[in-house]
This record gives sequence, C-alpha cells and structure tokens, in this order.
Amino acid sequence: MELTINPKYPSVTDLRNRAMVKMPKFAFEYLDGGCNEDINLDKNRTDLQKVELMPQYLSKFDKSDTRTELFGHTYDSPFGIAPVGLQGLMWPNAPEILAKAAFAHNIPFILSTVTTSSIERIAELTEGTSWFQLYHPADEKVKRDLLDRAANAGTDVLVILADVPTFGYRPRDIRNGLAMPPTMNLKNILEVFTKPDWALQTLIHGQPSFKTMEAYMPKGLNLKGLGEFMDATFSGRLNEDRIASIRDQWKGKLVIKGVVSEEDAQKAINLGVDGLIVSNHGGRQLDAGQSTIVPMTHLAEKFKGQIKIMVDSGLRGGPDIARAMASGAEFTFMGRSFMYGVGALGKEGGNHTISLMKREFQQVMEQVCCEKVEDLPRFLVK
Ligand SMILES: Cc1cc2nc3c(=O)[nH]c(=O)nc-3n(C[C@H](O)[C@H](O)[C@H](O)COP(=O)(O)O)c2cc1C
Repeated sequence: MELTINPKYPSVTDLRNRAMVKMPKFAFEYLDGGCNEDINLDKNRTDLQKVELMPQYLSKFDKSDTRTELFGHTYDSPFGIAPVGLQGLMWPNAPEILAKAAFAHNIPFILSTVTTSSIERIAELTEGTSWFQLYHPADEKVKRDLLDRAANAGTDVLVILADVPTFGYRPRDIRNGLAMPPTMNLKNILEVFTKPDWALQTLIHGQPSFKTMEAYMPKGLNLKGLGEFMDATFSGRLNEDRIASIRDQWKGKLVIKGVVSEEDAQKAINLGVDGLIVSNHGGRQLDAGQSTIVPMTHLAEKFKGQIKIMVDSGLRGGPDIARAMASGAEFTFMGRSFMYGVGALGKEGGNHTISLMKREFQQVMEQVCCEKVEDLPRFLVK
C-alpha cells in the first residue's frame, strides 16, 4: 500500500491539535483525557521518552525490513490499532474508517465490544482479519453468543480485557456528563453546533450506537437506561475461572490486555493464554499505577518465549514503536494516535496516520542501521 501523508499534519501532535478544533469538546476530552490527575497518562510518555537507541553507523547494512510475524500472520509493521469504545461519537464512522485502512495497510485492527460498529460489519471490511476485544459480560449467555459471533465472522484473535474491573474516575467526562449513565446536557448540544463538519457527518451516518451489543439490549432505551444496561452488562470482573472458561470455548489465539504484574502474567501462561498486551488503558484507569514500558521490559525479560509480549499506552509515533520493540516488546498498539488522525482528517485519517507511523518507523530502523525488527533490542542503550 502506497504511503500517503498530508504534509500539513506530519506528526501525531499536528493531528491532535487539528482534532481538538474539529471535534466537539466533550468528544475530544473523552478521547484525550486520562484519569484523576493525569499522572499515569503523563508517566506513560515520560518513561517511554527515557528509552534511548544507539545507532551503529559503520556496521554492515543492506536494508531495513519492517515486516513482523505474529500469530502466524506477517504484518507490514510491528504496530496495530488498539480497541477504542464509542468511536463513532468521536468521529462518525470512525471504526469503519480505521478498520478499512488497517486492512489495506496489512496491520491488525482490534474491534472493541463497546464501539459503534458490529463484529460482522468489521469482519466483512477486513476479510476476517480484524481482532475482537471482549469486555467480559456478566451474563454467560451473552458472553457465549459474542464468542460464537466472533468465531463465525472468522476472527482469529480474541483479546480479553483485564484492566477495567471498575470504571476509571475521569473528571473531564464527569464535567461533560459523559460518565455512566451518560447525559446529553445543553452545553454538549450547543457545542455540537460549533463543529459543522462533525455534525454533518453525524447526520449522514446516523446517531452512533453500540452496534455489536444491540442484539442484547431492550428496545427503545433512553440514554440513562442505556447507561444502566451497559453498567449491569459489563460488571463481570475477569478472573482465572472466567479465563479458563473462555480458553475452553475459544479455539483461536487468546490475548489478555491490561496485565502488568508478574503474578498475573504467570497465571495467564498457566491458563494457556497466547499473548499479553501490557497496557494501563492509556492512563485512564489507575492514576497511581506504573507506566507500561517499565513492567513490559521486565515481563519480556522474564517470559519471552512462553507468551507473546505486546504493549500499548503512550506511543505516539515511529520512534516510540522502536523504543518499545527495542525494550523487548514483540508488537505494539496505539489507541489515541489513530483517533486523533480520524478526528483531524475524517475518512482520510486512517490511511494518513498509518502511513506516517510506517514512514517514521522505517526511518528509525534505517537511521540506527537495523535490518530486522527482531534485532532492535541490540540497539537499546542499557
Ligand atoms: C477513548 C478511549 C476509549 C477506549 N476504549 C477501550 C475499549 O473499549 N476497550 C479496550 O480494551 N480498551 C479501550 N481503550 C484503551 C486502548 O485500547 C489502549 O489501551 C490505549 O488507548 C492505549 O494508549 P494510547 O491511547 O496512549 O495509545 C480506550 C482508550 C481510549 C483513549
């Protein structure tokens, strides 16, 4: 796939700035914010920025190959699109825009249970190559049905989420009335009128709804009822029994997202889980927690070879992907960066943001004189 980069927005910072102008404030703040005092959000960035690479300019070098093998598939680059809920509220049609772009660029797209497109629609757009992230439903029947639907749609990789045992405390969303249950207050409605492009796209694509979950919802719920339904449905914490039961039912690859401790990683290995995405939800859940690059480095040292170690939270471009891979990750994901791209550039945003990530990552590989992605740890400054 040819890389197309709009020269006005050559970085994720440019995209974020543009998205801030184009998106209604409540939607931008929902995307952008962390939790509590945003300490964990900032720590993800500062700890990642401390990771340094040592170039080896005089070594023998032919060319850099960014292709990366994961779960039997060779992806173009070692990064993918993390699951994000409510995407259509942030930019109309966002999950479809990103899924299509990811498919065209041969990188993985993970569909969230609570986003605004369905398992079936995304599988159709990506010929079954997208991954599915399951929020663990309290109702066993709903869980079994979601897993059957994902398998029938051809999904190979299931991601189950560990790091939302309770909803994060997010002051911006509380101020904007976006907490559960959500309320559309007058301030938000007025805000929409100042964002004509967003409003027009919303009119064209219709009001966003939880498409995958629609089959299980009582008809005609108002916003408050919807919030209560979601709250009750996703009150199921993940635990070893629940993972074991999913492992029994799910024949494809199984990944747990949100694990950061050695104890949890060991449990996942014992339960036959294939991969971990070391994540703190982009700093949206535990403000007193660690960044992800620190525990990921430790988990990779300890468990590499027993389970695939992947990472997300705080990555904003090619140098960050290289930092994470050099620190021992076998694959990386990003959430906000891609949504900033879509918020800034609408339907061009997926292709543009993936193109800039690919270009930036390739440049770092060539700059340090690294030929293969798995060799990146050799360039880490210890
Ligand atoms: C607005 C928003 C919504 C999210 N919704 C989900 C979700 O539904 N399921 C999930 O597993 N993770 C969700 N996440 C977490 C992301 O998958 C990912 O872990 C996080 O965005 C990574 O950090 P980054 O945004 O700094 O790249 C969400 C993140 C954001 C920013």
